[in-house]
Amino acid sequence: MTAIDPKAVLGDLSGGRVLDVATGTGGFVRFLLDGLRDHAEIVGIDANAERAAAFSEAFADRPDVRFEQMDALHLVFPDGSFDTVCVSNSLHHFADPTPALAEMLRVLRPGGHLVVNEMYRDSQSETQATHVLLHHWWAAVNRLRGEVHRETYERRRIVEIVDGLGLADLRIVDLADPDEDPHDPEATAELEAAIDRYVVLADGHPELQARGATLRTRLREVGVRGATQLVAIGRA
Ligand SMILES: C[S@@+](CC[C@H](N)C(=O)[O-])C[C@H]1O[C@@H](n2cnc3c(N)ncnc32)[C@H](O)[C@@H]1O
Repeated sequence: MTAIDPKAVLGDLSGGRVLDVATGTGGFVRFLLDGLRDHAEIVGIDANAERAAAFSEAFADRPDVRFEQMDALHLVFPDGSFDTVCVSNSLHHFADPTPALAEMLRVLRPGGHLVVNEMYRDSQSETQATHVLLHHWWAAVNRLRGEVHRETYERRRIVEIVDGLGLADLRIVDLADPDEDPHDPEATAELEAAIDRYVVLADGHPELQARGATLRTRLREVGVRGATQLVAIGRA
């Protein structure tokens, strides 16, 4: 297990022109900015246009970072146009990750680096399991609304998916923060607010709302820590 140290994880990688696929509000872009040795620019793409405002606000002081609304399955970029392509905590947001990864490899130049970061469901501590269970509940509520959001994968499935890409010099590390306080008041308050929002979204589905109530109790009693995630880095 490796502590979450972006520089140690990325291993002095020079990013060049970087693409972060399904970037959301840019959580992984922050990791890249902290961990890459250098980069020319970072482009974050996401299908959801609503992510643009928060992303742009987060990186308002970074002319080298920009957002474009785009479907990961139909990237508008030419073949081989990026030196580094990343996807973080989003493989389980695709109905099938294979075509999305193929599209990522298409825009990656030969010899460029693919970085896959994905949380997984198994081998988690009790406090980390709270994170996984919350995630699976959010996914179930999102699916009610027609969104593609699967439960998280098992670790071995993520390894199998990445192995299937035929990358060279593949390096895999497991990341978790051993010092995270399972009852951190700020994190707990944020998660309780998220539970409130999802209980409203699950209106008309009492079984899903009850699952939310059970998770709120678990959050208060057991606590929560971020689930361990796998980072795989290899060359195309
Ligand atoms: C859990 S967020 C990941 C955010 C970010 N990568 C991170 O690690 O913090 C998943 C994101 O995938 C995006 N997404 C899902 N399907 C997509 C698609 N087909 N093309 C682009 N983005 C997609 C969602 O809009 C959402 O912002």
